Amino acid sequence: MMATTVVRMAQPRDVATIVSIVNGYAADSVMLPITMERVALSLDDFVVATDARGRVRACGALKEYSPSLAEVASLAVARDAHGSGIGRGIVAALEELARVRGIGELFALTLTAGFFKAVGYVVTERVRYPEKIRRDCSSCARRFGCAEICVARMLRADTLECAA
Ligand SMILES: CC(C)(COP(=O)(O)OP(=O)(O)OC[C@H]1O[C@@H](n2cnc3c(N)ncnc32)[C@H](O)[C@@H]1OP(=O)(O)O)[C@@H](O)C(=O)NCCC(=O)NCCS
Repeated sequence: MMATTVVRMAQPRDVATIVSIVNGYAADSVMLPITMERVALSLDDFVVATDARGRVRACGALKEYSPSLAEVASLAVARDAHGSGIGRGIVAALEELARVRGIGELFALTLTAGFFKAVGYVVTERVRYPEKIRRDCSSCARRFGCAEICVARMLRADTLECAA
């Protein structure tokens, strides 16, 4: 990641750029499309990366399913900014956000499992996440021919011990 890249929480002024970066990939069926309204309503879950001129070049979001489980969603880096560590930076920021919120497990459904493996995720079975299947997969047009791979990362190995 360039020294001038800043990763920060998303602001209302970032909504249109987030939507345009994500929907650029949705048009190629690489990602699920998002709307301005959905992003605005969940802005507290989005992080963005900006360049030296302050332009938003990438985004990502935490989609929470329970107090301990969230999905890495809407992860996208502008095409001309690929390969310089920005995607890694966005994932690291989402993991930090998850830790602050006490979330111990992250997963993603992705066509780019190689990227997720490079940043510390392991391939797993999507049946581990029935909440995701119910919320998105069951109604998805591609549910019978889905090529997405499920990846996951545990953020905390420590478990709470019960002092009985
Ligand atoms: C996938 C994506 C987020 C990666 O972002 P990026 O900024 O180019 O990735 P980085 O430069 O941070 O790469 C981090 C590591 O992942 C690896 N990597 C990146 N893209 C990869 C890919 N498509 N396949 C395999 N490995 C990949 C890099 O080689 C690097 O590994 P290294 O540090 O060991 O050298 C970006 O290509 C993108 O926005 N793609 C289109 C949308 C998409 O597929 N989003 C994910 C949906 S869940």
